[in-house]
Amino acid sequence: MLIARSLAELRESCARLRQDAGALALVPTMGALHAGHRALVRAGVASGAATVASIFVNPLQFAANEDLSRYPRDEGGDLAALQEEGCALAWVPDLATMYPVGEATTVSVTGPAERWEADARPGHFRGVATVCAKLFGQVRPDRAYFGEKDWQQLQVMKRMVADLLLPLEIVGVETVRETDGLAMSSRNRFLTPQERTLAPALQQTLRSVAERLRGGDAVSVVLTDAAASLAGQGFELNYLALVDGPTLVPIEAATAQARLIAAMRLGTVRLLDNIGV
Ligand code: PAJ
Repeated sequence: MLIARSLAELRESCARLRQDAGALALVPTMGALHAGHRALVRAGVASGAATVASIFVNPLQFAANEDLSRYPRDEGGDLAALQEEGCALAWVPDLATMYPVGEATTVSVTGPAERWEADARPGHFRGVATVCAKLFGQVRPDRAYFGEKDWQQLQVMKRMVADLLLPLEIVGVETVRETDGLAMSSRNRFLTPQERTLAPALQQTLRSVAERLRGGDAVSVVLTDAAASLAGQGFELNYLALVDGPTLVPIEAATAQARLIAAMRLGTVRLLDNIGV
């Protein structure tokens, strides 16, 4: 596996890989890689493209109250994981490469980048959209892979690429879960053992909500019951909503594109999950 740490190295490696493989896939990450990230890399590799994974903890997407310094970092482990999955090139830029002094451009998406995570984390999607636009310009991939785990982020990427006519396809990859159903996340390591045993209740609740909605129960009643049940189990509910999948607009009845999205806090850890209905 090649490793690029400067733009010059990246350009040279990407040119070579594009020539050899014909297509480039990009998997943007912030490192601390787990099986969810690995699944994205595998999807890129399986598509036949030479797969580039970026590792960059992006300060612009952390809200003022969020602790950037607490974000887990393990470059050695990450590079080994990428190599194991058949990644062709790791792109590990530094801060000055991603945010040069004097720059004056950020990318603000509305529509799917409003509500939910945007309310909980002001400026978050501006940070994500800006850094991903830069990564797309640096790597110029044919496809970029994002996890359904971060459903809203995936829709924001699709919207941005469509609106800015960027010449790549955004591909969503199904959420990878622990055997007990908890969605894999770099934040799970901060759960206490007791919180860890409780955490799968989030996904179980989403599944039972989806079941009741499919059975024809009223959306508002089902969501109110589920919120009460989660609160009773010690979750501090941030949001639990039925939305139109691509636009993230709340809906009153399940449709083919409906998505149940949830965020809640368990102790100090914010857990996100979503499922189709
Ligand atoms: P990060 O949290 O490192 O996630 C990188 C990618 O892995 C995202 O597309 C995310 O949705 C996906 N992912 C995380 N957990 C997953 C799981 N359990 N199953 C499937 N995919 C999963 O998301 C970011 O970084 C950043 O916002 C980034 C896009 C890199 C921009 O800085």
